[in-house]
Amino acid sequence: MRTPQGLVSTPVLHPALIESASAAIPVIAVQGQNWSIAAARFGSLAEQFAKAQDYSGKDGTCLCLPDSNGQIIAVLFGLGEGTSEDGVFAAGRLPQLLPAGQYRLDSGWPDPEMAVLAFVLGSYRFKRYKQNNEQPRQLVVPDGVDGHSVSAIAKAVFMGRDLINTPANDMGPQDIEDAACALADQFCAKLCVIRGDDLLEANYPMIHAVGRASTRAPRLIDLVWGQANHPKVTLIGKGVAFDTGGLNIKPDASMLLMKKDMGGAATALAAASMIMAANLPVRLRVLIPAVENAISGSAFRPGDVLASRKGLSVEIGNTDAEGRLILADALCLADEDKPELVMQYATLTGAARVALGPDLPPFYTKNDALAEQIMQLGRKVHDPVWRLPLWNRYRTMLDSRIADINHVSSGGFAGSITAALFLDRFCEQAKDYVHFDIFGWTPTARPGRSEGGEPQAARLTLALLQARYGH
Ligand code: BES
Ligand code: MN
Ligand code: ZN
Repeated sequence: MRTPQGLVSTPVLHPALIESASAAIPVIAVQGQNWSIAAARFGSLAEQFAKAQDYSGKDGTCLCLPDSNGQIIAVLFGLGEGTSEDGVFAAGRLPQLLPAGQYRLDSGWPDPEMAVLAFVLGSYRFKRYKQNNEQPRQLVVPDGVDGHSVSAIAKAVFMGRDLINTPANDMGPQDIEDAACALADQFCAKLCVIRGDDLLEANYPMIHAVGRASTRAPRLIDLVWGQANHPKVTLIGKGVAFDTGGLNIKPDASMLLMKKDMGGAATALAAASMIMAANLPVRLRVLIPAVENAISGSAFRPGDVLASRKGLSVEIGNTDAEGRLILADALCLADEDKPELVMQYATLTGAARVALGPDLPPFYTKNDALAEQIMQLGRKVHDPVWRLPLWNRYRTMLDSRIADINHVSSGGFAGSITAALFLDRFCEQAKDYVHFDIFGWTPTARPGRSEGGEPQAARLTLALLQARYGH
């Protein structure tokens, strides 16, 4: 394999960022009543204007101050008093609030790097089917902030969002493979893909069974990057291009958003992009089982017993619990490599949403110290997650009368936990294994997060690997 060193394309700034601009308008972060002091810096006219507008410096609000010619001389932006969870990430609102133009961060920003990242992430638009010719809002990269690393993170997040937002007619298993291939090319990684009936030959029976009903062939995508002697880190992402539920067909409302069921794959690819761009000293592997859970005469059925790569026989309780089946075969392959760390992302259960809502994906690991580190880093980088337990008592809910294991529990209790417990059976040799049950979607826009696809836990993953393996 070629080494990535020196071959990575020259970094470029994201279009929402600029190196410098002499006429950039200052944006001042204000908290509570100190807005009036900030406004006074720009003359009594500006201060009077702010008063007349009844500006209060409230969280996430902004006010453009005029000079005597009616031009914008400065912008006040309310960071609030720590009442909102968003903090500095609230700067992600700025691209929506500000008129087109060039801006720079002025005083009052406790974490300029996070503010710049939030600003760029807040500038995202999904443009594949609808051009918008809006003039850009641009931010000058402040001294001491690495605009290129912010740009690499934003580029990866935008790729993840685009992949999720693209509907299934244009985002089938082949398109997911193409995305992985483009990423491999960009960073000189090695890509290997097993498709269609070759999956049977190569012993991935469950990936084949779930994907075989679709006219678009299932596949296992395997990307490898980095030096062989570096610590092995494997990312796995659920790549269900569309989830009809299979023969246990989903009702209309539940099926509507199922283009996002490859959100785990998008997250794994986004995280991989960040890791490779940062040139972290890891031997990275990305495994994506990519299938369409479709309905046809060849569909797998409730009651079927499938073979698995691991050798366990798996009784099918519900064809709509397809994600854990394809992941189990991929996880088993990951495990054979005895990696240091396996990170797995999947839009796996509706139950995770019932428990924690759309913004806070649950995750599972047996390592308490690692769990603590992940929770803290998630908070720090505004990519929050919450640990749920691999509750041993519930393992018996997966007992099957006729097979080694059932992939769903009969009672319907603890759906996210039992899915995690099922997957846990397929991982034995990896030193650490972390499974994220993500939503992959922002139902209503929030600072730095536009409505639509979101590769949740990708930025957190970069932060974790930087903390563990960073130079
Ligand atoms: N992709 C869905 C889970 C999902 C649904 C994620 C809605 C996010 C939003 C998954 O394949 C699924 O259908 N899971 C079932 C499992 C059940 C049949 C045991 C679920 O959660 O209802
Ligand atoms: Mn499903
Ligand atoms: Zn699914």
